[in-house]
Amino acid sequence: MTERQLPKWSELRPLLRPKPVRLRPTERRLEKALTIEDLRRAARRRTPRSVFDYTDGAADGELSLARARSLFSDIEFRPQILQDVSDVDPSIELLGKPSALPFGFAPTGFTRMMQHEGERAVVRVAQQHKIPYALSTMGTTSIEDVAAAGPEARKWFQLYVWRDRAAAEELMNRAATAGYEALMLTVDVPVAGARLRDVRNGFTIPPALTARTVADAARHPAWWGNLLTTEALRFASLDSWDGTVADLINSLFDPAMTMADLEWIRSCWDGPLIIKGIQTTDDARRVVDAGADAIVLSNHGGRQLDRAPVPLRLVPDVVAGVGDEAEVLVDTGVMSGADVVAAMALGADAVLVGRAYLYGLMAGGERGVERATEILETEVRRTMALLGARTIADLAPHHVKLP
Ligand SMILES: Cc1cc2nc3c(=O)[nH]c(=O)nc-3n(C[C@H](O)[C@H](O)[C@H](O)COP(=O)(O)O)c2cc1C
Repeated sequence: MTERQLPKWSELRPLLRPKPVRLRPTERRLEKALTIEDLRRAARRRTPRSVFDYTDGAADGELSLARARSLFSDIEFRPQILQDVSDVDPSIELLGKPSALPFGFAPTGFTRMMQHEGERAVVRVAQQHKIPYALSTMGTTSIEDVAAAGPEARKWFQLYVWRDRAAAEELMNRAATAGYEALMLTVDVPVAGARLRDVRNGFTIPPALTARTVADAARHPAWWGNLLTTEALRFASLDSWDGTVADLINSLFDPAMTMADLEWIRSCWDGPLIIKGIQTTDDARRVVDAGADAIVLSNHGGRQLDRAPVPLRLVPDVVAGVGDEAEVLVDTGVMSGADVVAAMALGADAVLVGRAYLYGLMAGGERGVERATEILETEVRRTMALLGARTIADLAPHHVKLP
């Protein structure tokens, strides 16, 4: 029989380790988030339904996004044992410059709507972590204000070509003058995708005050308070708009754009040109022949064509097809550092994340974007070490089995 004794205070005391008290609720909330999915759940609680759905949702049946995410989760890693991984280095070189991590922040429109700190918060975190950030044409902070908030950040400007070509040319000039390093031309939005959650929620930009949104304000007072007491929410690069996103896109964007227009873009922009939204090996080849320095394999996070190709699956063939002529980035569906490592092992030159940092932003502003980046970085480093890869160059297709 086990002999028992009364607990002694001298033995009990060393076991008592009260957690430091975090007075700020944001810090408490973020500390509890261990994954991007945790941040997503926190974001959902803090943001009006229509805004959360605008960010979280995709087009039609949301199959493109679901398939992209399931390919990441169906990947099987093949670790290599007994490698020296005492000093993991996840840095890369991208467009001829160093980047501290193998991922960057994808362009996302209306960022101040998700949370009032918006694009400035995102560029500051990009600057601090030495990773690139692409500001969207549909941004809610101007090209110049983002540059002022992150003067040392690697900034790219994402362009949508409008029917009004002179306006596009002016944006390119402003980006060049403000020190943006690269132009990212998005080519997968000839017309708006069918974002059914937005239609069902009656979502408009800016969010309209209806009986439903007023009722929602009672549940998300902080979000509405910030909306109403900070700089008015509007697009920084176009005249104010009052209506649905789909109507805006369809009235502004030019569906008649063709490969011939790439020549015009090339002639307007001296620096690196990245073409975003490539979904076949043939198109990758065509845009590289037309002068692209890099491409982003992307289906826009599943927000445009539904049942689109899964970008990750295209990586090996596209990398083989374009060789050293262009860099190949990939996005859509990345929710963890392990996803980033898988894409890099398959041959991508870098990965972009969209929703991952937006969930952080909605959960806790700049500190939330910071937390999302910390989570991804920790996962990247740990996955590399467990795979036996000290550097990104050590990652190779043999580390990953695609289903
Ligand atoms: C809310 C939201 C807004 C977006 N806005 C833009 C945009 O203005 N321009 C663009 O090229 N892509 C835009 N995208 C697509 C992202 O750049 C990126 O391709 C996508 O988010 C990647 O998928 P992920 O969110 O699963 O990481 C947007 C995506 C989201 C989620």
